[in-house]
Amino acid sequence: MGLFENKILTDEDFLYFKEKIFVSSGINLNLSKKTLVQSRLNAHLDRLKIPTFHEYRSYLESRPANDPEVQSFINLLTTNKTEWFRENEHFVYLVNKFIPVWKKQGKKKLKVWSAASSSGEEAYTLAVILKNLLDKTGIDFEIIGSDIDTNVLEFAKNGVYKKDQLINIPNEYHRYFDLGTQDIKEWMKINKAINLM
Ligand SMILES: C[S@@+](CC[C@H](N)C(=O)[O-])C[C@H]1O[C@@H](n2cnc3c(N)ncnc32)[C@H](O)[C@@H]1O
Repeated sequence: MGLFENKILTDEDFLYFKEKIFVSSGINLNLSKKTLVQSRLNAHLDRLKIPTFHEYRSYLESRPANDPEVQSFINLLTTNKTEWFRENEHFVYLVNKFIPVWKKQGKKKLKVWSAASSSGEEAYTLAVILKNLLDKTGIDFEIIGSDIDTNVLEFAKNGVYKKDQLINIPNEYHRYFDLGTQDIKEWMKINKAINLM
């Protein structure tokens, strides 16, 4: 099997990759995901000039857990589906149930962790909601976003998204975005009202 052809992934090698991603991230891929693993890794192997999955397996096995190649492998096998206000009932719960009870404790700073934040939409959804709700109340808030996939985290740090996503964001929050013009007219950016760190 040469480079740039679809390589065959045996069940045995699939099970190795399945175990590797499970131990590294807790992501549990069952056998139905074999084709997905095959297609996600195929082009990567071409870039590395490694002709078979079995040789890639040996290549991975020879590397320590903190090796950049292990991180590339993880990045390739994560599924980063996200969107603004995704599973909105969580945000409704936060605003209508959690915050009123939390406020009664008299605390002045709310910390929220978006633990698998993907490309940032979840963390920034939280940010615009909390800014809208808590501004000028004397209550401060901080949101931390993290993800095991370093590529999506790099994207998230910029706070820049395609402008056509505004349609999924209620109008009352549009003031927290700067809209691009001219060369960047398709883009929007979280603006200074939200303090990015
Ligand atoms: C389907 S996305 C969901 C993103 C966001 N929470 C949402 O609901 O819109 C799942 C994310 O979890 C991340 N992930 C998977 N395992 C993880 C782990 N062990 N630690 C941190 N992030 C993880 C993936 O990289 C991916 O970006």
